[in-house]
Amino acid sequence: ATRVLTGITTSGTPHLGNYVGAVRPAIAASRAPATESFYFLADLHSLIKAQDPAMTQRSTLEIAATWLAAGLEPDKVWFYRQSDIPEITELTWLLTCVAGKGILNRAHAYKAAVDRNRADGEDDDAGVSAGLFMYPVLMAADILIFNADRVPVGRDQIQHIEMARDFGQRFNHVYGRDWFSLPEAVIDEQVATLPGLDGRKMSKSYGNTIPLFVPREELRRLVFSIVTDSRAPGEPKDTGGSALFQLFQAFASADETAAFAQAYADGIGWGDAKQRLFERVDAELAPLRDRYDTLMARPGDIEGILRDGAHRLRERYATPLLAQLRHAVGLRDLA
Ligand code: TYM
Repeated sequence: ATRVLTGITTSGTPHLGNYVGAVRPAIAASRAPATESFYFLADLHSLIKAQDPAMTQRSTLEIAATWLAAGLEPDKVWFYRQSDIPEITELTWLLTCVAGKGILNRAHAYKAAVDRNRADGEDDDAGVSAGLFMYPVLMAADILIFNADRVPVGRDQIQHIEMARDFGQRFNHVYGRDWFSLPEAVIDEQVATLPGLDGRKMSKSYGNTIPLFVPREELRRLVFSIVTDSRAPGEPKDTGGSALFQLFQAFASADETAAFAQAYADGIGWGDAKQRLFERVDAELAPLRDRYDTLMARPGDIEGILRDGAHRLRERYATPLLAQLRHAVGLRDLA
């Protein structure tokens, strides 16, 4: 079977970008024949930025409920919380010892932090934690520990998957055997990067997100706050570079999108265009929102599902693999 794996960092409330870029395609992929899927909550990654324990816990619950509301079937896919599998942290160290520091120097998130420091006249690494620097190694461990073949992600994560390949390859080379298969990133070209309210990539760090499960009225208010140009009703509009159009496309069929493009050409007013987008998004999300609210009222059930997933997954793959790897690198087998 092909192994598909992806994770979401538990550092906030899930937004449309996470849904369109990760959750929706991953659940669709998990229904393909001959597929074994691994979906998890990256709570160890969240510690790098979010150092508010209550927030991390809340976000873990929200993101778990999101996966379940979107149709993930916990008895058909592996569904777990990263920190419930201590073997991931242990593998992180084994990979750290073969990972090239020079490669980590080039990671986008780390480089962006250094660039900001330089622009501010600070030392390169001022305020940069070793955790931020090591982020790609932890992510490589997430992927390699279950020998994932395909990793569906947004564009922003491609570099991390390339690094996972690199570290996996080095480990295989150093320890003389194909311990790890090398993962491929899977990008849905249609919805590679969902824009946010201001037209930039939808991202928690830009504060331009539309949270997935806000009440209907709040969703409408947010959709109406999407930035558009100043063209009046009756003037033709450009679909290229229109965040509103890209958002619509992510939630509509090809036919509906073609009709929307025609409406742009015919000079639809922005108010009408926003109303159409709101209705389209709400139609897809309304049933999920109901399931989400039900799940969030029963946090104990979610907790049980996560623990059970991690428990079975450790037994089946993680613990035996780490025993083999400890032996391979010359450590004592704990078993
Ligand atoms: P994170 O939590 O930032 O985002 C989760 C997923 O959502 C996608 N995404 C988007 N897709 C389209 N448009 C957007 N505006 C948008 N914003 C976010 C991201 O590309 C991602 O697929 N490092 C990862 C989590 C992670 C992981 C892994 C992923 C940890 N270990 C192993 C895959 C495999 C992250 O922070 O994603």
